[in-house]
Amino acid sequence: MDHFNQAGGQLMAEDCSLADLAERFGTPLFVYSKATFLRHLAAYSDALSDYPHLVCYGMKANSNLAVLQALAAAGSGFDIVSQGELERVLAAGGDPQKVVFSGVGKQPGEMRRALDVGIYCFNVESEAELETLSQVASDMGKTAPVSIRVNPDVDAGTHPYISTGLRDNKFGIAHQRALAVYQRAAELPGIHISGIDCHIGSQLTDLTPLMAALEKLLELIESIAGLGIQLDHIDLGGGLGVPYQDEQPPHPSEYLTLVKARLAGSGLKLVLEPGRSIAANAGVMLTRVNLLKENHGKHFAVVDGAMNDLIRPSLYSAWQRIVPVMQAPTPGATHARFDVVGPVCESGDFLGKDRELTIAPGDLLAVRSAGAYGFVMSSNYNTRNRAAEVLVDGDQAHLVRRRETYADQFALESLLEPTDAS
Ligand code: LLP
Repeated sequence: MDHFNQAGGQLMAEDCSLADLAERFGTPLFVYSKATFLRHLAAYSDALSDYPHLVCYGMKANSNLAVLQALAAAGSGFDIVSQGELERVLAAGGDPQKVVFSGVGKQPGEMRRALDVGIYCFNVESEAELETLSQVASDMGKTAPVSIRVNPDVDAGTHPYISTGLRDNKFGIAHQRALAVYQRAAELPGIHISGIDCHIGSQLTDLTPLMAALEKLLELIESIAGLGIQLDHIDLGGGLGVPYQDEQPPHPSEYLTLVKARLAGSGLKLVLEPGRSIAANAGVMLTRVNLLKENHGKHFAVVDGAMNDLIRPSLYSAWQRIVPVMQAPTPGATHARFDVVGPVCESGDFLGKDRELTIAPGDLLAVRSAGAYGFVMSSNYNTRNRAAEVLVDGDQAHLVRRRETYADQFALESLLEPTDAS
């Protein structure tokens, strides 16, 4: 459930008119609903109110500082994958003690910073990382809290680019190696073993693979206990899907009821890293129709948003709903099946294909479910300024990232001195 609804003949974000926001801030524009973010976070924390837990929002989905600030104020922790993300958490007033650090390529400098601010746990993804982390922590006179990210070799049944728990994926430590790695971790001076972790993929619409991964972890936990190592927590990652089209992903409470039943009596705190299920349907991308054209009987709506703003359709063939913001069609509008395309010079530059729409130049469209993996994956390709972001709170709209300017884009580049250029 989200807070983007039709009212008075137009699509609203909470109590704000999207048409007004587009006039005020221009397009393409990302608009987020604070109430939706908080509602989705609460879906997790409410379901776990009777079980020790830490929800660490997978902030790679949407890391706007104001979004993080709102989630942090509501008690959220954060799953980070870089020092940059850690700096965002700190800048947004997040609590470092509620941060888990995932990722296959943590650098020693990043480890040092995370140890300095005292994060909750490092999710270690390789034996090499474990050795480096122990060294870095020892040099600082500290011990690093660690959980080993296990790759359980479970098929998440999702797009290959967002599947992470298969033996061919780069993530985690093979299930069969895990025990040996725990043994090694127990010997290392700079390591404090705290938990076990997995994340098998994203946009999962079925609980079977998630529960299969949990079973594999529970088996391992028993073997680990056999080594005399007691774990404090189990981290099941993120992964719950959202309804982009007609998918019917399970509600977090359905998933967590099963998880709690399996964990009852284990004494393990439950850590989760949901990203998409918190952010995706908390945002839309507004884009304006620039012109309509027809080539060999095929209809195109050329809009001002493009693959550089929202790359999911191009990169994963992802389907995101595209709807006119105003319910009543503009007089003289064309009814057809359109490919909704951007101005970028690539055939792969589309936001949606074959969409039945009644539209005219100048109309405003909303690409739904754009709150996750939208702005964060945007680029300056074709020297396009990145879009602005607005966070709506009731009838208040806050510009939480202004639109880039060409000067912003050029600011980091330098021309050659005249002598070098000749
Ligand atoms: N934890 C870890 C270690 C992850 O790698 C991810 C996502 C998450 C948590 C959050 O997963 P979620 O709850 O969002 O499924 N750009 C792709 C999605 C990539 C997901 C990468 N990892 C997309 O647009 O579909």
